[in-house]
Amino acid sequence: MHSSSSSLVIVAAVMGCIARSCAFVLAPKHLMTKKVSESIHDHGTVLWLSNDDDDDAIDISITDNKMMGGGIRDKSFLEREIELISRLDPDHADNNAEYSDLQNQELVVSELWTIWYGERGPLNEQRLRSIEETLGDPSQWENVEQKYMELINEQCKSDGESKLNLCNWVEPANRLATLLYLMGRLKESKTWCEAILEAKPWHIGALSGIVMVCVQLRDEEGATKYIQMGLPNLSMEMRSARKAWVEKNVEIATEQLLQLQSSNEIYEKISKAFSKEIVSTDDDNSSSWQ
Ligand SMILES: *[C@@H]1O[C@H](CO)[C@@H](O)[C@H](O)[C@H]1NC(C)=O
Ligand SMILES: *[C@@H]1O[C@H](CO)[C@@H](O)[C@H](O)[C@H]1NC(C)=O
Repeated sequence: MHSSSSSLVIVAAVMGCIARSCAFVLAPKHLMTKKVSESIHDHGTVLWLSNDDDDDAIDISITDNKMMGGGIRDKSFLEREIELISRLDPDHADNNAEYSDLQNQELVVSELWTIWYGERGPLNEQRLRSIEETLGDPSQWENVEQKYMELINEQCKSDGESKLNLCNWVEPANRLATLLYLMGRLKESKTWCEAILEAKPWHIGALSGIVMVCVQLRDEEGATKYIQMGLPNLSMEMRSARKAWVEKNVEIATEQLLQLQSSNEIYEKISKAFSKEIVSTDDDNSSSWQ
């Protein structure tokens, strides 16, 4: 093994730690081996680094020299989302002074939904929306459930990891939670909502959904908890509570953005080091990903 590949694996391990917000731990070098597996996804080639027990496996996909796979997201969506969350404060300077609070609010919320549907690109958005078109026919629901699961696994599961990372894209899970609610599978619906809210505590769709689920389950404790997590309304009496909600969620989202930025930087380093590595070791020097 080249010395550079050992350091790559350590970088990958650190990367895995960042993704999980765990303590900064470097595994001993002798425990590390490098595996590179290539598999063609519809968005490009996936390079997979991992140590022996796959604990810190990550994946990177490179399309037009832009990395999009695994834990990688285009940070501009999250940046825009943070701007929009802050504009849920009716007094925010970027809101249109000629509109009523309610009109401003509706604009912001509709743009948030646009992001939630579209943050994995127009093709994936189209896939999600076309699944939804068959929802009107209950005989299709099992089929629809399966299609949501496929999309979730594809977009939120990294190679070698069993845990889903809904931060990649919560919307298919949110659609699934809604479907499970319609199907009367309330506990499963609640579990999905909780996972969504762990990834995006400001997802007002999931927040109102989970309250409906808890009410149906006669789960008073849950209903109270999630009503309190909800976005306070625009009335004067709720104004300061609403500002506090905005402040708290901007803070959480900003923390996520910082993590995403440092992950992206590390992914970039790995991919640069990897391209050198592959070029220097590849026999036919014609890897499909180049
Ligand atoms: C706003 O929320 C408060 C607290 O939940 C509630 O008492 C009040 O009726 C609501 N106002 C409007 C206009 O919905
Ligand atoms: C492999 O390809 C790269 C770039 O395409 C080139 O710079 C390098 O010289 C090639 N190496 C060999 C051994 O052909």
